[in-house]
Amino acid sequence: MVALDGPSGTGKTTVARRLAERLGAGYLDSGAMYRVVTLAVLRAGADPDDAARVTEIAGETVFTIGTSPDSPLVTLGTEDVTAAIRGNDINQTVSAVSAIPDVRRLLIDRQRTIITEVLAETGGVVVEGRDIGTVVAPDAPLKIYLTASAEIRAARRSAQDSAAGRESTPADALASVNRRDHLDSSRATSPLRPAEDAVHVDTSELSIDQVIVALAELAGR
Ligand code: CDP
Repeated sequence: MVALDGPSGTGKTTVARRLAERLGAGYLDSGAMYRVVTLAVLRAGADPDDAARVTEIAGETVFTIGTSPDSPLVTLGTEDVTAAIRGNDINQTVSAVSAIPDVRRLLIDRQRTIITEVLAETGGVVVEGRDIGTVVAPDAPLKIYLTASAEIRAARRSAQDSAAGRESTPADALASVNRRDHLDSSRATSPLRPAEDAVHVDTSELSIDQVIVALAELAGR
């Protein structure tokens, strides 16, 4: 198992999926879980700061997270929400939802179950998130903490948004990633931080291919 943590815009998702493909492993995007619950909260018209209500929604919501690295489909009920969970409305609200301890407990349980299932099926899994190496799977044999400068992260996020047809300037994206990093790092439960035994990889000056080569080497492949 590889635990891949770090802030937004470090290339984590692309890197995690490509690494999983290369290792013949499964893939789990823990962030997608917080995003799909956030979508359910917004659709219910609930207040994201109402911890009891949001926890109730998290417990009731029926969703699936695909673990195939080439097409990780996310569904809410029977609806394909793979694209919908990447919207700006979700980016704005997901940190509030993920700061609720009971929501984290529910989703972390589910992450551990999926990790066990995928490991039994494929023998390997690359899991990406914010607290995989510190909380979800502290025994993971390989922990990576991806970083990049704030400017590079904002530029990547802005390019991703534009490619998906969402208008976003690098300045907007910088404000948005800085805000989310601040919220994710300062919350009381499972704050974003590297595990003590994580290998830090700064991706600012590296292409995705270079990052994959470095990580595959760390994974012994
Ligand atoms: O793709 P990006 O890195 O921007 O975000 P993500 O990985 O989809 O995560 C979205 C949000 O979910 C983060 O900003 C965190 O607030 C939350 N999250 C978390 O709290 N713990 C995780 N293991 C993964 C995500």
